[in-house]
Amino acid sequence: MIDRLYLRAAGTSLLLDLRDGDVRVAHWGADLGDQAPDPALVSGSAPHSAFDDPAPVSLIPQPARAWRGTPGLAGDRAGRAFSPRLVVQDASLEPADGTGGQRAALVLRDEASALQVDVALTLAPGGLLLVDQTLTNLGADDYAVAALDVSLPVPAQATESLDLTGRWAREKHPQRHRIDQGTWTRSARHGRTGHDSTLVIAAGTPGFGWRSGEVWALHLGWSGDHTSRIERAGDGQTLLAVGELLKSGELVLGAGESYTAPTAFAAYSSHGLDGVSAGFHDWVRGREGHPSTPRPVVLNTWEAVYFNHDLHVLKSLADAASDLGVERFVLDDGWFLGRRDDTRGLGDWFVDPDMWPLGLTPLIDHVRDKGMQFGLWVEPEMINQDSELAREHPDWIARPAGAHGRTSPTWRRQQVLDLVNPDAWDHIFERLDALLTENAIDYLKWDQNRDQVELGHDGVASTHAQTLAAYRLFDALRAAHPNVEIESCSSGGARVDLGILQRTDRVWASDTNDALERQTIQRWTQLVLPPELVGAHVGPSTAHTTGRTHALSFRAITALFGHFGIEWDVRGLTDAERTELRAVIDFYKANRSLIHTGRSVRIDRPDESDAAYGVVSHDRSRALFVYATLATSPNELSSRLRIAGLDPDARYRVTLGLPLDEHAIAHRSLPHWLTSDEGEVVVTGRVLAEIGVPLPGLYPEHALVLALSQVE
Ligand code: GLA
Repeated sequence: MIDRLYLRAAGTSLLLDLRDGDVRVAHWGADLGDQAPDPALVSGSAPHSAFDDPAPVSLIPQPARAWRGTPGLAGDRAGRAFSPRLVVQDASLEPADGTGGQRAALVLRDEASALQVDVALTLAPGGLLLVDQTLTNLGADDYAVAALDVSLPVPAQATESLDLTGRWAREKHPQRHRIDQGTWTRSARHGRTGHDSTLVIAAGTPGFGWRSGEVWALHLGWSGDHTSRIERAGDGQTLLAVGELLKSGELVLGAGESYTAPTAFAAYSSHGLDGVSAGFHDWVRGREGHPSTPRPVVLNTWEAVYFNHDLHVLKSLADAASDLGVERFVLDDGWFLGRRDDTRGLGDWFVDPDMWPLGLTPLIDHVRDKGMQFGLWVEPEMINQDSELAREHPDWIARPAGAHGRTSPTWRRQQVLDLVNPDAWDHIFERLDALLTENAIDYLKWDQNRDQVELGHDGVASTHAQTLAAYRLFDALRAAHPNVEIESCSSGGARVDLGILQRTDRVWASDTNDALERQTIQRWTQLVLPPELVGAHVGPSTAHTTGRTHALSFRAITALFGHFGIEWDVRGLTDAERTELRAVIDFYKANRSLIHTGRSVRIDRPDESDAAYGVVSHDRSRALFVYATLATSPNELSSRLRIAGLDPDARYRVTLGLPLDEHAIAHRSLPHWLTSDEGEVVVTGRVLAEIGVPLPGLYPEHALVLALSQVE
């Protein structure tokens, strides 16, 4: 059998050592060239009071392979078979189906424990590594699975960790630590991905930034409970690991049964987080079914009218939206049976006859007559105890102790519908299918608004099964209504992961439309997701979630680098606001093909009082950059904007993309290039990267856009 597997793509190499029947990760990181190096090189010497054969940690770390940290596979047969020793049975390397990447397939088995693990490692052309693992019980008795994680080692120079955390209306905030011996674990036990869920667990060279340093990052494509960790063992070996978190008794494999773990995504970059991001964005954009039509300008009714569903009001809102250039009108929560507020009605997916005596058709027709698409809010996985559905089927509420046992504490007055129960699943499918069949609906805003930490079906923990049942619901509805797009919303950004994105077309990154908060949330959500998948709306002048007031220019420019929309009662705009918003919408429409296909570039700024980021077309002929002030600056002058990612030898014309908001200007004068007759400067990419352009002094919490295009 082959003694090594060597995969290479886009500056990343993976070298697996298969000698001794084990799979040891000799290298995951920078490209090592054409020839697979001898993996023996990486084995060290044996210290005293230690295992006799030091070797790199296995792809599935096992005590039986001299690993003293967290095992990659854990479980038992009523206490037995607790320490498997997996041996390679088969290994192959082939081109990955039609993608231009490579795929290594491994079969590992432990005869004594009667377990088999099939591993597929797919290296995408952009350098992203996908790891898929399936565990099969080859024995006659049950095997209870405790964990099947994906682990990958990082080298000693990775001394700093990065992960993200958050809460409602403040998702995806970074935190950094020095990597020391021990384990840094981010557990997500929400019954959904979670507001605080880290999109990636990353390690890098000291001080790694957006454009510099080596970085290794792992993401788990899963919308249920999961763990992400960095572990440095006593021998200094350091692992990144991700995996599903399973509760006791939750996953028991009968004879011949298998468990397929969620796909783990691993990105390496030799040039900072932008390289990690590029690996993810390339892969995400290369998927079959990635949205390919221009992302329509959205108006979502939530912050405009909340539960006040009045046909007359909604029609005039649609008129005002259409007048601005909106292309998709989304009716949010409040349209179904008995739903007057957020305490009741979930589960009763019938149009409320009191609020909507003629059904949704009059509104839908009105919206469509204006040339807009129609979208509708649903929350199919939930049930209010105050609903017809709960009164009729109280046993359909997912409960920890059996169908008639106690319920869990409520959250937003709601419970989780037990979708593992086929009758409940069928009922919800039928309701949604009927809604989509009977109404001309182009889009669903699919919400999921609660944590549920003790999900149960028939008295057994069911987060795993519930997550798969929800996935099946998305998949079945998509198959039945292939033209309906779906947004993943979960009290804002509590379900943002590449598992849900296999069956949805965008995420609602956060319930906050405060542009200052959004600067951070969108920046870090887009570490993994390209901008076209991240909903970003212009909210009202004073944000409903924070009470902060921002200029329209800041709110609109912040929403520009995403899937642009509005969440504001635009019936009452002043003429000036209408003109300004229309101009931004026109600008978005003219530039969305660039924003939604180009390479994301974030600028490492000297301090945190401002942020700069942009997108550069793949041929580097065009670019857009945003400069945003987040706080007062320690300096009188803002440091020049050094623009990365351009062709150093090409000459670029730099202009303002949108007129400067005169109320944003904090200084007595503007930089010379902006006051020249042309209002532009022409310089090479090299000069822009090294010297940069002087910026106007802006008050805090304001922004501007620069447009760049190559000149001959
Ligand atoms: C959640 C969503 C919001 C809105 C409300 C409606 O909080 O995140 O955008 O749809 O539900 O109840």
